Amino acid sequence: MGPSFSDTLNQACRILSQGNLVVMPTETVYGLAGDATCDQAVALIYATKGRPQFNPLIIHVDTLEKAQEIAVFSDLALKIAHHFWPGPLTLILPRQPLSKISLLASAGLDTIALRIPAHPIAQALLKTYNRPLAAPSANRSNHISPTCVPDVRRSLGEKTPLILEGGNCTVGLESTILDLTESSPHILRPGGISADDLELFIGKFPPEEGQSGPPHSLQITNGALKSPGLLKRHYAPDRPLRLNAERGLPGEAFLAFGKVATRLNTNAHDAFTKDPIPFNLSPNGCVQEAAANLFRCLYACDQEPFKAIAVAPIPHHGLGVAINDRLHRAAANKKNQKGE
Ligand code: TXA
Ligand code: MG
Repeated sequence: MGPSFSDTLNQACRILSQGNLVVMPTETVYGLAGDATCDQAVALIYATKGRPQFNPLIIHVDTLEKAQEIAVFSDLALKIAHHFWPGPLTLILPRQPLSKISLLASAGLDTIALRIPAHPIAQALLKTYNRPLAAPSANRSNHISPTCVPDVRRSLGEKTPLILEGGNCTVGLESTILDLTESSPHILRPGGISADDLELFIGKFPPEEGQSGPPHSLQITNGALKSPGLLKRHYAPDRPLRLNAERGLPGEAFLAFGKVATRLNTNAHDAFTKDPIPFNLSPNGCVQEAAANLFRCLYACDQEPFKAIAVAPIPHHGLGVAINDRLHRAAANKKNQKGE
């Protein structure tokens, strides 16, 4: 006889608590799940998928109480959550300022994608592990989302971690993504809950702040998220960013990579006053470690007393490709703003 379900569940929790990944069935598609509060686990998700970009991930929890520790819910958001969760709907909401979710998981944004999946095995895992899980679809980058165990193995190959087997996904389409962070709700990705159903439900409620007026309307933003480059918001530091720098100039925070510094320092004040080579994405020269530290380090550099940020060259392999993509976008962003 094979291991019992509770043995497998406990094994999955051990794996997750070590910063490693498991494959979790949901009613939409299988997810490649890691501890959403652990930067290393999230970096491993990107590495395993072979994603060339840091697309923000959906955070999964099993209760609305836990969801509210992670995101700020308006009255409308609460009504929608009560009605559609658990289920194939992801809500984009403002991030709780004190949330422990990895900045890499939300790609540095101040919003967060959240959902409560309905699959009993996803529910059991989330309840037993009792921490939020970041989980994109369990396929290699550019493959289609797997809806059964053989497809997970086919797509992830030898990188496939422990799979919690949950049969064929009943919805078989990714969750619908509904953005509630703008003045009116809009769909960013069509999916398992139809726009009609959402429209019907949301249309019942007047806009918030006690104003009378027309009910909420729903807009479909077509394929806006097919490419993260099209994401309207993506995190970029306020300070100018200089790439491929060998060292920092006066007033610059220097973000090193590799042997030049011996410790990781994300405290801006100490860095400026005490340490000549203050920040290091990865003293070991490991791109996966650098990914895990990227957004935290950028935030730390993007503070007084620094006036600008200089970043060392990052090797262009593995997650280095995604790091460079993000750094180039951030640097280009600043140039555009200056030009305006
Ligand atoms: O059904 C699903 O949603 C599956 C299962 C595993 O839950 N997950 C899934 O995740 O499809 P993924 O990573 O393949 O898709 C996540 C989508 C991406 O298009 C991403 O850009 C968007 O969610 N997203 C995540 N955070 C966001 C944010 N803060 N603002 C806008 N879009 C966000
Ligand atoms: Mg996907």
